[in-house]
Amino acid sequence: MSAPVLSIRNLTIDYIGATSDFHAVKNVSFDIGKGEFFGLAGESGCGKSTIAFAISRLHRPPALIRTGSQILLDGRDVFTLDDAALKQLRWREVAMVFQSAMNSLNPVLSIERQFYDVLKTHTGMSRVAARARAAELLKLVDIPADRLTAYPHQLSGGMRQRVVIAICLALNPKLLIMDEPTTALDVVVQREILERIHKLRQELGFSVLFITHDLALMVQVSDRIGIMLEGELVEVNDAQAIYRTPQHDYTKKLWASIPRLTGKPIAEVTP
Ligand SMILES: Nc1ncnc2c1ncn2[C@@H]1O[C@H](COP(=O)(O)OP(=O)(O)OP(=O)(O)O)[C@@H](O)[C@H]1O
Ligand SMILES: [Mg+2]
Repeated sequence: MSAPVLSIRNLTIDYIGATSDFHAVKNVSFDIGKGEFFGLAGESGCGKSTIAFAISRLHRPPALIRTGSQILLDGRDVFTLDDAALKQLRWREVAMVFQSAMNSLNPVLSIERQFYDVLKTHTGMSRVAARARAAELLKLVDIPADRLTAYPHQLSGGMRQRVVIAICLALNPKLLIMDEPTTALDVVVQREILERIHKLRQELGFSVLFITHDLALMVQVSDRIGIMLEGELVEVNDAQAIYRTPQHDYTKKLWASIPRLTGKPIAEVTP
């Protein structure tokens, strides 16, 4: 197997409090391979977003990364990067779609201008070249180029979310992190967007770290899945194995907790 795009070793993150520290991430290690779609699941508060932020070095105090933690992105240790290298890391190496991403577009700027801002800042691209690249990127997420002149409020939530994803892909990042990217959208639109990302990463070769509470969706789109419980990664395996033959009690409980229309827990239902 080729070298992993992301390699996390012994990642330990505490939130420093006035009286005590909260151990949010405890000695977590996992890899994501080139082109791999990796799902990270677990109950609310188990540390998923804390890991996502640490990968792009977007964590802020009181989060403290403990000595011995290591995150390698394409072989580079992200904790040793200076400001210039960090600027390169974000967008080019790793791009992150947040839960509220569809509201992260600037309401007073056209879609075209928002692509241009990213492309100009990071590549010095001209306005004409940026327009062509933006049209190409929009096409990837099934949005017609004539929408470039639109403002965010003129687009549906699902379209805004796809625009954000297209902007995230603008600099061909090696890793796309999606932290509950579609929870504000209806189920059908959610699935359409995820299916699109699934295809795109096959075409473009980027890897994905996908965080969601929708476990059925996660199993469908992920190659491998990691299950977290109270800051620990308790099980990592192929998506189908996690789904069909879960090893850890907590993983079994997660499946059992999903209500199905058939009345059977999901583990007994063929996807
Ligand atoms: N700024 C902070 N200060 C103190 N504790 C924090 C801070 N941010 C997060 N935490 C705690 O760290 C733990 C992990 O939080 P995190 O946001 O990573 O969880 P999560 O798995 O992403 O949850 P969710 O599924 O609800 O998004 C939580 O218990 C949370 O309360
Ligand atoms: Mg979170």
